[in-house]
Amino acid sequence: MQEDHAADPSALTPVQLAVLQSVAPDWRHDPYRSYAVLREAGPFIPGPLGTRLVPGYHEANLIMQNPDWSHAEESELLHPDSDVELPGSFLWMEPPDHTRLRGLVSKAFTMRTIEGLRGRTEQVVADLFDKLLAEGGDHPVDILEALAYPLPLTMVCELLGVPAEAHDEVRQMSAGIARGLDPDVLLSPAELAARTAAVHRFRDFFGDLIAQRRKAPQDDLITRLVRAEADGATMSPTELLGTLLILVVAGHETTVNLIGNGVLALIRDPDQFALLKSNPDLAVAAADEVLRYDAPVHLTTRTARTEITVSDQVFAPGEAVIVLFGSANRDPRAFPEPDRFDITRYAAGNRANRHLSFGLGLHYCIGAPLARLEMEMALRAIATRVAAFDLPHDPPPYRPNLVVRGMSELLVRVTPE
Ligand code: HEM
Repeated sequence: MQEDHAADPSALTPVQLAVLQSVAPDWRHDPYRSYAVLREAGPFIPGPLGTRLVPGYHEANLIMQNPDWSHAEESELLHPDSDVELPGSFLWMEPPDHTRLRGLVSKAFTMRTIEGLRGRTEQVVADLFDKLLAEGGDHPVDILEALAYPLPLTMVCELLGVPAEAHDEVRQMSAGIARGLDPDVLLSPAELAARTAAVHRFRDFFGDLIAQRRKAPQDDLITRLVRAEADGATMSPTELLGTLLILVVAGHETTVNLIGNGVLALIRDPDQFALLKSNPDLAVAAADEVLRYDAPVHLTTRTARTEITVSDQVFAPGEAVIVLFGSANRDPRAFPEPDRFDITRYAAGNRANRHLSFGLGLHYCIGAPLARLEMEMALRAIATRVAAFDLPHDPPPYRPNLVVRGMSELLVRVTPE
């Protein structure tokens, strides 16, 4: 991919240019135009690292639902020269290990359990809004710092049992790891070094917390997982760390972007903002429309375990694809007017297609109910407590991150209700 960056863009075909733009950091603010070119070009486009890109909804669905496509080889594909093993987590495992480990945490994330966090989520949102509105006035507020980061970080840390004074440290280490999820060829030496350091800090920090919970159990998820690890046959020490790593990183780096993307979409579309204000109960449907319209996780990879045919294309064992969720969600063959942000699209009774932002199949996001709850509560507060938004800089700056895509700052002038 680095060679592609150096290529003269004028010598490229429109499709090659779209492939380049879909990975280039300069285009992070709008990958959607390139995705449209890719979808038009066909179901499978030659991509970087010998992969094929999958931009369409139909093929993305088929691949995500078929367990013959493995996610276990992603590390080999994207991080071949990595000097640090990202501790194993079940996102990158196959059954039976995946089933065993996912089963140990799934109870903490059922709709019912998460519904029990509604009151606490509402409280966290209310406190953040009190502060945000008091600090705002004529000054632009960075919505990411004031709301989008602290909400999911607080929720996932409280769920796990990370003490409040350590939340910021957890945020720092997860940022280094989240950036490190991108292909190694896209990372600078400094970013690779930061990932290594972040993984070491993660191991040390959570290693200490695990030791503390062994001595003094608490009513939290870490303690429950420590008990499973003590059992020996249920979970190894590495698996325990890997499980915590994926919960921490996936548990907030993604939702940050969901909240940020939602605020941005509402600011850019005052009619949809007015509609939400007129009916705050639309917050539930609006959360899913933001997920579809501007996906927080833009892509994943899969590798064929056996020979697989998808839409007449034969894939040999070992061949890899990059499934572009962000593109599939905008496929006009699946969604009417896909580029229109419409918060009623998923309102009750609507039979619109499901978006792919939480993935699909075996690895379907375990945290989806929590992410939806956090977003719903954030949108309800926006609907009831914000009279107007103003965006001094559009487009706002984006982080270079490719897989977990989002803004680096969202400065907004907020007029309270
Ligand atoms: C898996 C997206 C929030 C934990 C996934 C996958 C996606 C995703 C796309 C599947 C990846 C693949 O198949 O390659 C998101 C988005 C979120 C979000 C967009 C927020 C807007 C959360 C939260 C948690 C979480 C809040 C936990 C607290 C996980 C875990 C997996 C996962 C553990 C792995 C599941 C498995 O392998 O069985 N997520 N996620 N996610 N997510 Fe999320």
